[in-house]
Amino acid sequence: MYKFAAMLMGVSLWSGSNTALANADMFRQYNCTACHAEDKKKYGPTYQQVALKYAGEEGAAERLAKKIQAGGAGVWGNTPMPAQPRVSDEDALKLANYILSLK
Ligand code: HEC
Repeated sequence: MYKFAAMLMGVSLWSGSNTALANADMFRQYNCTACHAEDKKKYGPTYQQVALKYAGEEGAAERLAKKIQAGGAGVWGNTPMPAQPRVSDEDALKLANYILSLK
């Protein structure tokens, strides 16, 4: 357990923030990983593709947070993303900000 905590601290120091690590766990917790990966196309777009698409766009994090909760289709093709009602507003924004940081 101590070893695990030390490892987590190491990773968060390395990535420069604690929230980045919390969010990486969150993607597993909410099972986003079933359809998305950072740099490998799965059922949905890669997070890097998403980050590049919205780079520098004002309000992108808020818009993506809403899309994460509501789901939808048409941006990356016809495959729909199902709504994710378990994701709170706060977590949706964290997930969106994390994704946008991956470019
Ligand atoms: C069942 C598969 C599936 C799951 C589960 C899923 N997604 Fe998606 N996601 C998709 C698909 C398909 C798209 C493309 C939708 C489109 O083209 O508009 C997408 C698109 C996105 C986008 C880009 C939205 C846009 O408008 O550009 C983000 C961000 C995203 N997903 C985040 C998440 C997060 C975070 C989770 C977990 C809470 C998650 N997804 C869970 C399939 C999924």
